[in-house]
Amino acid sequence: MSFDADWLTLREPADRAARDRGLMDEFTGHIGRISSPLIIDIGCGTGSTLRSLSDVMPPDARWLLADNDPLLLDEAERRSGGAAHISFQRLDLNDLGGLPLQEAAMVSASALFDLCSEAFSAAFAGKLADRSVGLYAALNYDGRIVWSLSHPLDDVVVAAFNRHQQTDKGFGVALGPAAAGRLASLFSGRGFRVSTADSSWRLSGENAALQRAFIEGFRQPLQEIGGLTSGDIEDWIAFRLAVMEEPGSLCTVGHADLLALPS
Ligand SMILES: C[S@@+](CC[C@H](N)C(=O)[O-])C[C@H]1O[C@@H](n2cnc3c(N)ncnc32)[C@H](O)[C@@H]1O
Repeated sequence: MSFDADWLTLREPADRAARDRGLMDEFTGHIGRISSPLIIDIGCGTGSTLRSLSDVMPPDARWLLADNDPLLLDEAERRSGGAAHISFQRLDLNDLGGLPLQEAAMVSASALFDLCSEAFSAAFAGKLADRSVGLYAALNYDGRIVWSLSHPLDDVVVAAFNRHQQTDKGFGVALGPAAAGRLASLFSGRGFRVSTADSSWRLSGENAALQRAFIEGFRQPLQEIGGLTSGDIEDWIAFRLAVMEEPGSLCTVGHADLLALPS
């Protein structure tokens, strides 16, 4: 599955606003106790996690940004401005052996684990446990989408969308909305100290461009998963686009952040 750099750029400010500050502080506090810590950001896209954390990271932190999409990785490198403490690796995460975990202080990720399968997440937790490397995984979609201005099809649409979230996104059957809960169990089962926190988007008319792309982004999954007619899908999308900038219109998209620290 490929991701559009424009979509990742649109969501970055909402992601940044939604990240749980307490977990970020705990993450950077942990990193701050390690000399020249290396953070491997997996599924880095254009480098959103790096940019979101750059103001709060210890000055000697180093980053390795890893993704299997060469275009996104090139864009991440371009936006990094050639900073010496940031390196890049093209890597398919299905080959977990390719991650240089022996050098890592922590792994980070954002908007990634809902795409991943149970088997991948279990294998990944095992690899990190073997090396006592922690995980900061932000912005895992949790299946909740609520609009202040309702439409009769909202529940059916969200249920269909969530079914699609659990189809194969390149790792086998995706965890989708179950991702944060499963990660929490997998990591606590391996002795990590696990914390989770809400990082939901709260989108108003001020986020019109993101909301438009988000709503338009329902069309293909709804068509693929079935259960709604094309007419219903188009009516629902038209309604959502028409009301998204009305006064008091609010869209909440549920996400959870997770921090797993080795004990
Ligand atoms: C939803 S995007 C999130 C990107 C970025 N973390 C952000 O928050 O903007 C998911 C990212 O995972 C990457 N990805 C998906 N499958 C992958 C795989 N098998 N190996 C490595 N990266 C993968 C995609 O290329 C994409 O950059």
